[in-house]
Amino acid sequence: MIRSVIVGTGSALPRRAVSNAELAERVDTSDEWIVERTGISNRHIAAPDETTSSLATDAARKAIEAAGFEAASIDLIVLATATPDQTFPATATIVQNNLGCRGGIAFDVAAVCSGFLYAVGVADSMLRSGMAKRALVIGSETFSRILDWEDRTTCVLFGDGAGAIVLEAQEQGAEAPRGVLATRLHADGAHNQLLFVDGGPSTTGTVGKLRMKGREVFRHAVVNLAEVLGEVLEETGHSAADIDWLVPHQANARILDATARKLNLPAEKVIMTVGQHANTSAASVPLALDVAVRDGRIRQGDLVVLEAMGGGFTWGASVVRM
Ligand SMILES: CC(C)(COP(=O)(O)OP(=O)(O)OC[C@H]1O[C@@H](n2cnc3c(N)ncnc32)[C@H](O)[C@@H]1OP(=O)(O)O)[C@@H](O)C(=O)NCCC(=O)NCCS
Repeated sequence: MIRSVIVGTGSALPRRAVSNAELAERVDTSDEWIVERTGISNRHIAAPDETTSSLATDAARKAIEAAGFEAASIDLIVLATATPDQTFPATATIVQNNLGCRGGIAFDVAAVCSGFLYAVGVADSMLRSGMAKRALVIGSETFSRILDWEDRTTCVLFGDGAGAIVLEAQEQGAEAPRGVLATRLHADGAHNQLLFVDGGPSTTGTVGKLRMKGREVFRHAVVNLAEVLGEVLEETGHSAADIDWLVPHQANARILDATARKLNLPAEKVIMTVGQHANTSAASVPLALDVAVRDGRIRQGDLVVLEAMGGGFTWGASVVRM
């Protein structure tokens, strides 16, 4: 059976790290409040010369290098972002040009913080159906550009960054096959107004700023993530006890703790980078995955579960054998 196997990971962060103390000089907040409510201590903020495409390109280069491929052999690029360089063309095509790839498929996916899961689902389907052989799946964001820096309830929560994986279509046997084993995705547009940006090309003609009812998002996130994790585990015939590593969307340490508790998963099996990166939206899952692959925690053969929830609402989970 053809499976989409993760053969390389990479990530990139803007040069500048910003501490809670630095934010407390701009808005009425404190290091104590942010750490206690979110687990966040630091985030990286992009300089004007650092863009969604430049961070994505850096992350992609590292993932391609880890895979040991020539960039030109990539025939599919799916880039998840809510902060594209421009309204069009797709940021994926800018990355494609930066990498020196030509003629393959390249497009963006918009599912906000679940964007990377949606991108994995789409790329996996295209690889298994034979439309491409080697895919670059990227999550890249510069949320600092759409934050209201006067709003303490949102500006302390987000950061910029990018993560990437290379997926290769490989024939795998039935015994413990490597690759993406299942992905489940959901959306419920009835909750559009709990997390949104108050602008856009077709409405205001402006980029807009992020708006969120944090407490309500929190409540939905814990319920939706537990449900989709149950679905994807059932589909693959696994139980939570089989999971070697959970790589969750890094929104808030309390959401991660609550999700792990619902699964009865020990905290040591949860990859947690939110403290240093904050919420990097579509970049957060591949960023956390790359950190844990590079520090040697996640190894070939491990059963890894990816999950995310974001604006829309959208949410999803994947089970992957590394
Ligand atoms: C945003 C979040 C951290 C707020 O935590 P909370 O415990 O729900 O806190 P509340 O929003 O109820 O606010 C509690 C108080 O803290 C205040 N507060 C909010 N932000 C603050 C900040 N940065 N510093 C200090 N005080 C702050 C509020 O004004 C409120 O004060 P009040 O009681 O006087 O009105 C939390 O709801 C959350 O993480 N939600 C999920 C958000 C998320 O992950 N979204 C992305 C999903 S993709």
